[in-house]
Amino acid sequence: MLIRVLGSAAGGGFPQWNCNCPNCAGLRAGTLRALPRTQSSLCVTGEGGQDWALINASPDILEQIRATPALQPNRSLRDTGIAGVLLMDGQVDHSTGLYMLRERGRPLPLWCADPVHEDLTRGNPILKVLEHFCGVDRHVLPIDGSSFHVDGVAGVRFSALPLASKAAPYSPHREDPVPGDNIGLTMTCERSGRSLFYAPGLGAHSPEVDAAMRSADCVMVDGTFWTDDEMVALGVSQKTARSIGHLPQSGEGGMLEWLSSLPAGTRKVLIHINNTNPILDEDSPQRAKLTRHGIEVAYDGMEIAL
Ligand code: MLT
Ligand code: MN
Ligand code: ZN
Repeated sequence: MLIRVLGSAAGGGFPQWNCNCPNCAGLRAGTLRALPRTQSSLCVTGEGGQDWALINASPDILEQIRATPALQPNRSLRDTGIAGVLLMDGQVDHSTGLYMLRERGRPLPLWCADPVHEDLTRGNPILKVLEHFCGVDRHVLPIDGSSFHVDGVAGVRFSALPLASKAAPYSPHREDPVPGDNIGLTMTCERSGRSLFYAPGLGAHSPEVDAAMRSADCVMVDGTFWTDDEMVALGVSQKTARSIGHLPQSGEGGMLEWLSSLPAGTRKVLIHINNTNPILDEDSPQRAKLTRHGIEVAYDGMEIAL
């Protein structure tokens, strides 16, 4: 099984188009040692490696496909390596890339949980609009842990569990979360038995998520913010990390503490990094702290073979 990070940034990307925070300004000026990053997405393939499941459809998908020749095979006049799409939530940074796939010849196989399907047909009716183009072939993404496969992606078994986080801001139930608004996804290689747990929007610790992380060989989890008040302190927003469904890395009960409690052999990677997060600066003390704890920071193009 091969997992490739297409986009490692949170909504807005890095640098964000309208942002002059120290990170965004420093990256543009060339004074910061950091990599630019597109918005949150992965792809995964199994045996054969010709067809991939796309995990989240970012608004940067076209740029991500151009940067990933394997997603653009040439087996017929019109072709794609994307066999199907799985959504972790209905957030703008994870779903609006579906529009960019509208030229597909046949309906796009799409796996999403019921609350996400509801949001994408009502609050933000992308799936309704897509009916005027390729349409989607929707599959219910089970959130009870039962396993499923994506047609064309042989040798990869998927299973999901609900996370405590937040529905998208446009969702009619933004402040009234329901199971399935956000999910964590385990991808298991059926040949090696090795697995990766992915959760780009993880708002709180829970025994269920902890168990899923403990049984994975690699965890790739919410790295949005270093501190709860990061955006408030910078003056870019009034929103705290926790209020929008992201567990900050630092502090008591933070992600760093959680990851440090996992078995020693677990590979630990932060992903979905907001442009304000000091860990993007490779020379920052926060980044050094992660390195000391054996925690990696995902980057666009990162590949993990399991
Ligand atoms: C989030 O996960 O909270 C998002 O990155 C927000 C967004 O897409 O603007
Ligand atoms: Mn996001
Ligand atoms: Zn910024």
